Amino acid sequence: MDLKSHVDLNKLPKHIAVIMDGNGRWAKEHGKPRVFGHRNGVTAVRETTEAAAELGVEYLTLYAFSTENWNRPRLEVNALMSLLVETLRNEINTLNENNIRLQAIGDLEKLPPKTHKALLEGIQNTQHNQRMTLVLALNYSAKWDILEATRKISGLVKAGQIDAEHINEELFSASLSTHGIPDPELLIRTSGESRLSNFLLWQIAYSELYFTDIFWPEFNKDAFYRAIIDFQNRERRFGKTSEQLG
Ligand code: IPE
Ligand code: IPE
Ligand code: MG
Repeated sequence: MDLKSHVDLNKLPKHIAVIMDGNGRWAKEHGKPRVFGHRNGVTAVRETTEAAAELGVEYLTLYAFSTENWNRPRLEVNALMSLLVETLRNEINTLNENNIRLQAIGDLEKLPPKTHKALLEGIQNTQHNQRMTLVLALNYSAKWDILEATRKISGLVKAGQIDAEHINEELFSASLSTHGIPDPELLIRTSGESRLSNFLLWQIAYSELYFTDIFWPEFNKDAFYRAIIDFQNRERRFGKTSEQLG
């Protein structure tokens, strides 16, 4: 079946967020070290980014490294950071050819200098692209994001620039790392785990969650279309009754 033709382009999510999980288990299944899984995960990143851009999705956010991931064995962390540098350098041309802008969210300054540099270069070299924004969540944690926003707002209150009574959802959203980006309508997590692992908590308050058993290295365009088609068959009620939606 041609899954792509079943995607309703008039009901496309503007923003899709993905928790790319299962690289390690995929590698283990193939009798290979975990890093082999991460390397093969890059192919899935490419496929997903291409599929999203081709459809007309405006924002794609990929959870690439959580703040908690620093607790992994040092060798794995180092390998992931080097893979990031390598991938960023290799993919910039493709991003430009496809008119895709790169952005990043997370506590980026705490990344190793080489990774940070490659990231900033990628962001700078693609800043004028307009077809889609690819957001990498790196050293990201939703609780960090929320705390940072709280600190920023507290600073404004302290400086007398705003009254505490005027803190509302709009101001809070605008103070998060995702400011200017609409909340994701759809969140996908691969590998069969049904948890959020400290990803985008505020922003996904009303997102549709889609869990698939596929390990990330095997995720491809069809798997992505499947998730979108599933999303499009749901009724988003936002607290109302089905009848009210008419
Ligand atoms: C996702 O795959 C990649 C990162 C978190 C960096 P994992 O490395 O978590 O793979 P599993 O979950 O151990 O299989
Ligand atoms: C979540 O995956 C983080 C990323 C995908 C980057 P993990 O594999 O780190 O999550 P847990 O440990 O299973 O919750
Ligand atoms: Mg995992």
